[in-house]
Amino acid sequence: MTGATGLIGGAVLHRALSSGHPAEWVCLVRAPDAEAGRQRIAARLGRFTNPLTAQRLAQRVEVVTGDFTQADRIADPRLDSVTQVLHLAADTSWWAEGKVHKTNHDGTLALARRASHMAGLTRFLHVSTAMICGGEPPHLVDETLYPRPDTHHLVHYSASKSAAEMSLAAQFPDLPLVVARPSIVVGHAALGARPGSSILWVVRACDRLRLLSCDPEGAIDIVPADWVADTLIAMLDRPELAHTVYHLSGGRDHCTRWDALARAFEAADPEGGTRNYERFEATDRATLQGRFAETFGLDEAIKVAMMRALQAYYRFCALNVTFSNDRLLAEGFAPPPSLPQYLARCLETSGEIVDQFHEDFGNYAPGQAPQRAPSRRVAAAAARTGAEARPARRAG
Ligand SMILES: NC(=O)c1ccc[n+]([C@@H]2O[C@H](COP(=O)([O-])OP(=O)(O)OC[C@H]3O[C@@H](n4cnc5c(N)ncnc54)[C@H](OP(=O)(O)O)[C@@H]3O)[C@@H](O)[C@H]2O)c1
Repeated sequence: MTGATGLIGGAVLHRALSSGHPAEWVCLVRAPDAEAGRQRIAARLGRFTNPLTAQRLAQRVEVVTGDFTQADRIADPRLDSVTQVLHLAADTSWWAEGKVHKTNHDGTLALARRASHMAGLTRFLHVSTAMICGGEPPHLVDETLYPRPDTHHLVHYSASKSAAEMSLAAQFPDLPLVVARPSIVVGHAALGARPGSSILWVVRACDRLRLLSCDPEGAIDIVPADWVADTLIAMLDRPELAHTVYHLSGGRDHCTRWDALARAFEAADPEGGTRNYERFEATDRATLQGRFAETFGLDEAIKVAMMRALQAYYRFCALNVTFSNDRLLAEGFAPPPSLPQYLARCLETSGEIVDQFHEDFGNYAPGQAPQRAPSRRVAAAAARTGAEARPARRAG
């Protein structure tokens, strides 16, 4: 596995190790030595369980230290005996063009080159993203429509994932490649926001602002991290799969409709009052800025950064796109719960929306995250220069 220290990697390891799944995991982790790598895995597992159990589970994995983008230079013989690769690692920041392409495209090809020396390899499960559909998808996207070289992407991240899929297929015809494309991963159905609040802050901010960039009857395709983890493990367990590409998504029947989400917010947070979402154009910065200032204030650099990130997310929300999961369901995989079904758990385990954004920003933006409560001068400078305007992370 690559990406064991990330949100989905942690969820996979936690599910597999705590359920007695028989696989032996070899994790490729960036760390100065194996023990430090193990401690990084334990820290991630600690978001899913208590620290002692996290330590105990982390003792059960093999740790190979290294950067997956240099995987073809890692001679460790434990990699030679790998039978299945689960490739999750990626740079999920949106706008660092050269860096994300190098990591997600070039790095994935380096891993595939290393995998071609694994004599007993039966599967290379590459985790891509459904957002390779770019900025002009039809309302319902199935697995056959993308990737396409002429897709207009909203962010460099999805362009790099799209390019990786195309190059893997073209350059590694003998690799036992299966591609899993999760849609947008938000929270954990049982643990809520504890394992990570990435993108949850976006949904909460849209609700708090009462602003949407699509119809309230529109949909957003959200799935929880634990369901993605279970599905990836189940895909690894299947000796045969009917297809080589699968959406891990809500699809027609389990995607999240904004009006259902509004009712779920009302039920989970009655003090927040009735939810009537107003529609606006994602490009209408003035409306967003005015509403944001009234609701959250624009008195801190982090809030300026959050508003800019949100404006970008509203462009994704405007797509109103659903990713078909017919392939997955036809092969007997369980459908995901929709966000309204586990929203209450997410809210119970959440702090302030701005703090959740800060966690996202701090972990994934290039450079330092702005501190909370800076001077007015810093906030003004941020607003002028856009210095913090390279926020957050993934589009899914
Ligand atoms: N979360 C979503 O909404 C979503 C939706 C669709 C698809 N996906 C895909 O799912 C995968 C996992 O996403 P996630 O949300 O779990 O990501 P994440 O939390 O951002 O974690 C990224 C992981 O990749 C590792 N990584 C990055 N660069 C690396 C490198 N050069 N060498 C070794 N490891 C490296 C990170 O390791 P460090 O800890 O060392 O940085 C971390 O373990 C990604 O491929 C992403 O594109 C995610």
